[in-house]
Amino acid sequence: MRVTINQIKEMKQKGERITALTAYDYSTAKIIDEVGIPIILVGDTLGEVVLGYGSTIPVTMEDMLHHAKAVVRGAKKSMVIGDMPFMTYHISVEEALRNAARFIQEAGCQAVKLEGGVTVADKVKRIVECGIPVMGHIGLTAQSINQLGGHKIQGKTPEAALKLLEDARALEKAGAFAVVLETIPTPLATLITKKISIPTIGIGAGIGCDGQILVVNDMLGMFTDFVPKHAKQYARLANIMSTAITEYFNEVKSGKFPTEAQSFPMDEAVLKELEK
Ligand code: KIV
Repeated sequence: MRVTINQIKEMKQKGERITALTAYDYSTAKIIDEVGIPIILVGDTLGEVVLGYGSTIPVTMEDMLHHAKAVVRGAKKSMVIGDMPFMTYHISVEEALRNAARFIQEAGCQAVKLEGGVTVADKVKRIVECGIPVMGHIGLTAQSINQLGGHKIQGKTPEAALKLLEDARALEKAGAFAVVLETIPTPLATLITKKISIPTIGIGAGIGCDGQILVVNDMLGMFTDFVPKHAKQYARLANIMSTAITEYFNEVKSGKFPTEAQSFPMDEAVLKELEK
């Protein structure tokens, strides 16, 4: 049985910490799923860590669906959430609904995530009414990076902090089952977590959230362009990969690879026949 939104909501009530990770491909999703992480987000960070765009803005629905399908094939128990890319839910409620439905119908995701609070609450409400669970996302929302003026901590002034609380409440009221809080001060995230009934999933939002999410390529040390402050590297896979690839390179050059162990024999008689 796959993890359900009710189980995620119950985890908050029971005070059980929620773990989430992003994934973009079958093999990674399979490992995360087998560990027992309840939520896999096919994040639009796909644009940065997999497609090399430098931001999430160029990511399209087709990019997201392609990768979401692979993740769904790899994850048997985790809830898979599809991240709605830039401008796929802003123009109208109808368009938001149509694109949200594609994640469920075409990719096989169980929920969608979208960025924004009060301004997208009408879309969240309608998507939820149509039976699609929605995770909200407020704070440092990468799709608005040009408006926010860079990767800055959000909610530092009393007005900005109050606005984030209002955004979280608007998402809760619209029916979101959880909300990601990104790059906001720990005390503010803790306060929001206490003030709303749905789980908060933090990234750069401190220990007071109900759960945590990291970009898998960051936490595995695979994405080396930059290391965000919030991202703890649990491994240095880029170094391990580089060492292995260098060894392969050298072994091919020197004729050490392949050996008999990686090769296939042939019947002597057949070979003799060919040599005639
Ligand atoms: O796209 C993504 O990976 C995200 C996480 C940073 C939460 O939205």
